[in-house]
Amino acid sequence: MEFFLNNKTVIYNGDPELPLLSYLRENCGIVSSKDGCAPQAACGSCTVQLNEKAVLACVIPMKKVAAGRVTTIEGLGEYRQQVYANAFVNSGGVQCGFCIPGFVMQANALIGRNPDPSRTEIAKALTPNLCRCTGYKKIVDAISCAANAIRAEEEIRPRETSGYIGTAHLKYDAQSLVLGKHQFTDDIRMDGMRYGALKFSDHPRARVIRIDIAAAREAPGVLCVLTAADVPGKRFVGLIRQDWPHMIAEGEVTRYIGDVLAGAVAETEQMAREAVEQIRVEYEVLPTITDPQDAMQPGRPMVHPGTDSNVLSRSRTGRGDVAAAEATSAYISRGTYRTQCIEHGYMEPECAIAYPSQNGLDILSQGQGVYEDRKQIASLMGWPEERVRVIMVPNGGGFGGKEDLSVQGHAALMAHMLQMPVKVRLNRAESINMHPKRHPVRMDYSVGCDANGKLTFVRAKFIGDTGAYASVGMKVLERC
Ligand code: FES
Repeated sequence: MEFFLNNKTVIYNGDPELPLLSYLRENCGIVSSKDGCAPQAACGSCTVQLNEKAVLACVIPMKKVAAGRVTTIEGLGEYRQQVYANAFVNSGGVQCGFCIPGFVMQANALIGRNPDPSRTEIAKALTPNLCRCTGYKKIVDAISCAANAIRAEEEIRPRETSGYIGTAHLKYDAQSLVLGKHQFTDDIRMDGMRYGALKFSDHPRARVIRIDIAAAREAPGVLCVLTAADVPGKRFVGLIRQDWPHMIAEGEVTRYIGDVLAGAVAETEQMAREAVEQIRVEYEVLPTITDPQDAMQPGRPMVHPGTDSNVLSRSRTGRGDVAAAEATSAYISRGTYRTQCIEHGYMEPECAIAYPSQNGLDILSQGQGVYEDRKQIASLMGWPEERVRVIMVPNGGGFGGKEDLSVQGHAALMAHMLQMPVKVRLNRAESINMHPKRHPVRMDYSVGCDANGKLTFVRAKFIGDTGAYASVGMKVLERC
């Protein structure tokens, strides 16, 4: 079949069901269209234009592209690229930037059919596109500004800033974010790079009787399959308490569905994922432990075998004479309140690339703390930290959800085993299953006041749910 890609004729004879997003990113190296949730069509980060329409490239099969015109940011031409880049940067309409190329393409389609869109019309057109960090007001400002300039056939110049402390400056390197030129970790390609995929637990709490990797090893394109036995150093990681097995071993009990049991490396990501499907695991399914109140009762099973309590930590703070204030308060209100578990919802799922270095390993990480990553990866490898270099790749959002080690250690193990560059990335479902969430907290409050309504005392008890692993749970409760 034939179609136009950024005004050039393209002949395509491959799989007609291949998503357009995969074609753009993997076959053409056009990475301005981002993979935030493929194939869920939920985030809009992959938006491109097919003919005049904005479409989500992750759910458009190549057969639908036949004879059509596909336009990505690269095909907008210099004038429009500059208009959008400066409109977004001047308006403060870009932060991490992962989502913004999708917004630009959605805006371009809108302006094509309606050169003078109202703010309401812009907001409506943006329905398929999600942004986690910027907030939509400034994005609407930016698109409105771009539409005005395009209608008047005018340029938009970068806003001038004084450079003085206390004044607003343009965000560093933000034009490249708007135009999709910034390379997030998954956008980076390396010669000879192979791809890893992970086998996650099928049950939140189960004893792993046996992990059978024989079929996965024989799967097409597979270079290696690894399990807990392949970790040369300390298998347990963690920012404060090292209670988190980077892979669960046979005989151990899983603690959540984000636990990793094995991994496979193959020539392509699809091959690695297909190999992981071949891994057979025999479990003894156990009852789950999900309620902190219940988990603290005597006789409950331990989330972490070998410990004698499900309580991670206790913090206590106080000042003044609360009992006296309570005794003399005119009114007292008592109540129990709850916050819920919250997914961070960053647009960029986790990804890491590891490759052999002269000294050991280099790791490209989109985590939130390269030195913590380094410490934990060195421990996994059983190496001094000097042998590990972690290079931060500015990420597509983190919000605290990328503090813990996710796939960086798996990529490091795989790259070391093969002495080749290996990329491991999670899809959206895996990302949501794997990374810790903001802690739900139960809060029992007593608050008193005098006859005039002036507060006299507060007594509060918080019980936080840190989930399967410690992570930074104790610090979060201290902040409560
Ligand atoms: Fe939109 Fe970060 S700028 S998700």
